[in-house]
Amino acid sequence: MAYKWSDDLLTGNMQIDTEHKELIKAINDLLEACSAGKGRAELEKTVKFLSHYTKTHFGHEEVLQMKYKYPDYNNHKKYHKQFVDNVESIQKKLLSDGPSIVLVGEINSKVANWLTNHIKREDVKVAAHIRDNSK
Ligand SMILES: [Fe+2]
Repeated sequence: MAYKWSDDLLTGNMQIDTEHKELIKAINDLLEACSAGKGRAELEKTVKFLSHYTKTHFGHEEVLQMKYKYPDYNNHKKYHKQFVDNVESIQKKLLSDGPSIVLVGEINSKVANWLTNHIKREDVKVAAHIRDNSK
């Protein structure tokens, strides 16, 4: 199952939106590699990219939040950490045991659904704050 970008995921901040699109693509690539039963090398590549890109993107978001003194910065940072931990635990399991239905389920719930909910609930607030404070 692939996740589609839809405009209700737009935050209105161009950098954040562009990176979110890349993240959704990376999640789709990983899900596709898992369900195609791709070899360890392919899985390793996709999960590594996702884990790396997640950290880069969250770093950008956090820098923006600091720059614009986002009031809920500390909580937002905690949410990011939780996600990074989830991706890391999935990465470990994928590399040691290979893909399984259980792990694909975890990618769906702890990575894909988490991210889309986080964008809709939290990142839109960040983008609105940046907009309001950059006039
Ligand atoms: Fe975020």
